[in-house]
Amino acid sequence: MQIVMDTDKLTDEVLRAYERTPDPRLRELLAALIKHLHAFAVETSLTTQEWIDGINFLTAVGHKCDPQRQEFILLSDVLGMSSLVETINAAEGGTEPTVLGPFYLPGAPRKQMGEQIGRAEDGEPTLIRGLVTDTHGHPLTGATLDVWQGNANGLYDIQDAAQPEFNLRGVFTTGPDGAYSFRTIRPVSYPVPIDGPVGDIFRASGRHNWRAAHVHAIVSAPGYRPVTTHIFDSQNEYLSSDAVFGVRDSLVQEFRPPGASDPNDVKYVVDVDFVLAPEPAGRRA
Ligand code: BEZ
Ligand code: FE
Repeated sequence: MQIVMDTDKLTDEVLRAYERTPDPRLRELLAALIKHLHAFAVETSLTTQEWIDGINFLTAVGHKCDPQRQEFILLSDVLGMSSLVETINAAEGGTEPTVLGPFYLPGAPRKQMGEQIGRAEDGEPTLIRGLVTDTHGHPLTGATLDVWQGNANGLYDIQDAAQPEFNLRGVFTTGPDGAYSFRTIRPVSYPVPIDGPVGDIFRASGRHNWRAAHVHAIVSAPGYRPVTTHIFDSQNEYLSSDAVFGVRDSLVQEFRPPGASDPNDVKYVVDVDFVLAPEPAGRRA
């Protein structure tokens, strides 16, 4: 018997083979993945060699991964996928989310309000402060801000043996006024790693690999949806070409000199509020 296959027939046959996947969400995801993957190959008339090159590329991405380096997340980041998934899952009315990035460390030291998270002498001392509120503007008590950023040399503590452990990281909890504040240094732009296979994508596409200067924050409170976000510097040159597509207009803030009523031990003050949306009951994680 001769089986003559056209591409639509093949795609339908593969879809049918997964039709009885018991878990309904997995069934939905597999069907969409098959459809889009097949459509990609058909649309581009993908050659056998290109498909093998693609598989070899993904193999190299896997080989580059270790407990400190997650090249697959970097791949997701530079293809805009991490940013897209954050956007799809943004909570309505809350602070906009953006990418987590690979440099988050759980377990950063708990700090008092206004405390320094790094070494002021490493950069330009900056005070970041504001309120954590719900979507109606009511201050949230007991909200946690887990903040982290790179040093003035463009490196995170875990990339740089010269920095103390947990440098430029801290966890702050709001009181009844919902207010938070911490001292840090003004963040700088830094390049995402290009010494692995993902670097080949930058080189082949002619893109630069710089991230717009930012401070990371995960803001959470009991009963509310946590948000993973950034504070971007409005003066930064990479806002419109961030290597991982993480910038949203609403996250761009002014680093301004202190006014007469502001503390005078810092060079810049940033006022930024965070808004958390309620956790809907029974929501899928
Ligand atoms: C970061 O912001 O830390 C980051 C995000 C994506 C890729 C590399 C770094
Ligand atoms: Fe970062």
